[in-house]
Amino acid sequence: MTDTIYDAIGGYETISALVDAFYERVSQHPQLTPIFPDDLTETARKQKQFLTQFFGGPALYIEEHGHPMLRRRHLPFPITPSRKNAWLSCMEDALEEVAIEEPYRSAMFERLTLTAGHMMNTPEEQK
Ligand code: HEM
Repeated sequence: MTDTIYDAIGGYETISALVDAFYERVSQHPQLTPIFPDDLTETARKQKQFLTQFFGGPALYIEEHGHPMLRRRHLPFPITPSRKNAWLSCMEDALEEVAIEEPYRSAMFERLTLTAGHMMNTPEEQK
């Protein structure tokens, strides 16, 4: 297999639609709005760059921002287990809305689930 997930799902256009669908949900989620900025334009722009490279496309995020250091970049935000689950649930719904086909949908969700697990930095009771 030489194809990347990025190419198989339709490249940047699909990533962009996925990220827009995702932040639409984040902006309405009561557990997530307290830690995200009101204006998600810049957050979405960076996430499109990041997920492009995460799924095998061009290294857009690194070109502009350097090494992602994702866990470190998330430390200012209290990410509890329930916030992690909220983030994943927004992503699961977005993957469905954009109609990404199997086996790519599950493969993407599994990778995102693993990475989301690494972002947790706060026990539930301290949120
Ligand atoms: C940025 C929350 C998981 C990738 C952020 C920001 C928050 C956040 C609050 C800052 C937004 C801003 O100020 O613009 C969360 C929560 C997660 C989570 C609650 C649940 C586990 C993930 C995962 C990924 C990811 C799994 C990647 C697969 C990013 C990227 C940025 C970001 C690329 C932008 C970093 C930058 O400023 O350059 N996230 N995140 N996040 N997140 Fe997450």
